[in-house]
Amino acid sequence: MAGDKAVAQVWASRWIFILAATGSAVGLGNIWKFPYMTGVYGGGAFVLIYLFCIALVGMPVMLAETLIGRRGRHSPVVSLQNLAVERGASVRWAWAAVMGLICGLLILSFYSVVAGWSLSYIIDMGKGSFTGISGEDAGAAFGALTADPVKLIIFHTIFMAMTAWVITRGVVAGLERALRLMMPLLFLLLVVLLGYSVTTGHFMDGVRFLFHFDPAQVKDGLLPALGHAFFTLSVGVGSIMAFGAYMPRRAPIGATIITVGLLDTVVALAAGLALFPIVFAAGLEPGAGPGLMFVTLPVAFGNIAFGQVMGVVFFVLVALAAWSSSISMLEPAVAYFSDRHAGGRVRFTWLLALICWVLGIGTVLSFNEWAELKFFVTGADGFALWAWGAEGGKTFFDLVDYLTSRIMLPLGGLVFVLFAGWVLGREVVREELELKNPLFLNLLLVLLRVVAPLGIAVVFVAELLK
Ligand code: PHE
Ligand code: NA
Repeated sequence: MAGDKAVAQVWASRWIFILAATGSAVGLGNIWKFPYMTGVYGGGAFVLIYLFCIALVGMPVMLAETLIGRRGRHSPVVSLQNLAVERGASVRWAWAAVMGLICGLLILSFYSVVAGWSLSYIIDMGKGSFTGISGEDAGAAFGALTADPVKLIIFHTIFMAMTAWVITRGVVAGLERALRLMMPLLFLLLVVLLGYSVTTGHFMDGVRFLFHFDPAQVKDGLLPALGHAFFTLSVGVGSIMAFGAYMPRRAPIGATIITVGLLDTVVALAAGLALFPIVFAAGLEPGAGPGLMFVTLPVAFGNIAFGQVMGVVFFVLVALAAWSSSISMLEPAVAYFSDRHAGGRVRFTWLLALICWVLGIGTVLSFNEWAELKFFVTGADGFALWAWGAEGGKTFFDLVDYLTSRIMLPLGGLVFVLFAGWVLGREVVREELELKNPLFLNLLLVLLRVVAPLGIAVVFVAELLK
């Protein structure tokens, strides 16, 4: 029956969108970055602001991207251009998507390095290097890894090649289908880790750290939490917009993106809940920074039954989750260039991956040879773009992370919600979401037009006044 077939297609495709978007969203941002940022920014206040940012800003931006993508049916830049022309608006709106694709490349440059750490940990776990390890020794092991630029570059190279390879071979859908099995397994292992955390006797310390609200810590955490809300949902880049282009007309956008947002949030909170009790039990420092997960997890896996096997599986899953995210960072740029020059897709992919790879070397070195090289230094003798051995300032990794998460993602997201709310406007939003209830439509429009943009603006202003 023809009718049945149409329904089946709609379901299949909506499912693929959820897989692609969840594959993009769930990654190192949840398991690596969220816990370490929560540690650095002091816990509960950061988590609460982060949750607000997800609900009031991140989700509206995801809605905007999906709408624009599905309406435009092209790569992000071209979709924005076409829709702007159609609505009689300036094609300059499309610059946001250009910035987004550059942002995706910048993120990939360091993401690949960190994913490389997970690859290295798969091997170390497998060798049993962490059996019975203490927190201190786990810290030393991580220190030894990051002190070795050659090793880091090798794993960074492998991961970057894996990313480019999937894109050139067009097996993205295959990877996403694999994730349908992997994601639940990842979640299951997080639950096992949670179980271990409970046995450490410090579980409540972890809960308190994550959920105790201390108003004194709000100011410092505002922009980091906003930036991380974008990062973790993969919005502000155009990745979700690129996937939106393949979404069937009749698929319910609202329910779909809420699923993605919830899954992402649940994984992040589970990771935080699993990690912090171990941090406190092992006497580690919550504000240790990017090494947090790589120091705590060996302690957990090194001290539980079947820990060696579970540790290997866990880091394989982390690498896979990172893989499906990294593909979505590169895809908007690849789509853009191959839109303009037909037949160049494979060459563009390798070229762009090469650029990211070179930038990634900067991140590798910022953990060793360039540890003392600081950018954006404001010191006693004024401002310096860069300086060696300065107090304060940002390492190369910090700099790229800062430019992307704190500046480019929120700005890109701001333009996307404004475009959806004001340029596409009421009728298009109503049509795309098939909203019959005017109250609900008005509510969403207020979110897109006012709440989300204002939220971003307020955080930026608060940061400048800090
Ligand atoms: N959301 C991904 C994560 O949490 C990272 C990402 C950012 C992916 C931007 C795509 C675009 O790991
Ligand atoms: Na995420």
